[in-house]
Amino acid sequence: MTKKLVAYFSASGVTKRAAKKLAQQEGANLFEIKPLHPYTAADLDWTNKRSRSSVEMNDKSSRVEIANKVENIAQYDEIFLGFPIWWGVAPHIINSFLEQYDLSGKTISPFATSGGSGYGRSNQELQPSAPNAKFNPGKMM
Ligand SMILES: Cc1cc2nc3c(=O)[nH]c(=O)nc-3n(C[C@H](O)[C@H](O)[C@H](O)COP(=O)(O)O)c2cc1C
Repeated sequence: MTKKLVAYFSASGVTKRAAKKLAQQEGANLFEIKPLHPYTAADLDWTNKRSRSSVEMNDKSSRVEIANKVENIAQYDEIFLGFPIWWGVAPHIINSFLEQYDLSGKTISPFATSGGSGYGRSNQELQPSAPNAKFNPGKMM
């Protein structure tokens, strides 16, 4: 039987709820990607060009330290990967997550939540962080 993981990042709880539901539906294990330094409300202020999220998202090479690690990722065949859309794409913590592991041959099934925009170019920006994984098209939840 294929073993599945739902891994997600959620700054304000919306993606978290979607991830929990999906994990139940899929019979998957659940993993929350936790930033080493949690985002404050000020960090998430997209109206401020100098907020942490704005600065990170303006620099494609920026990465975010993660506090926790998936145990024995080798056991999973499919990884559902959830995140909020930030400025049209995945937050860079998702690139940081993908780059921590050898995901060769695994299937990544991304899903996202947003305030209204679509999935956009998210996969194009994620694929280089897991070059040997197979990405399914992203789904908005
Ligand atoms: C920094 C930042 C940038 C965002 N950019 C977008 C965007 O480009 N398009 C959009 O529809 N929503 C955008 N949003 C809204 C979130 O995608 C939306 O509220 C999401 O459901 C939050 O999920 P979460 O509670 O799991 O963090 C942004 C939110 C933040 C904090």
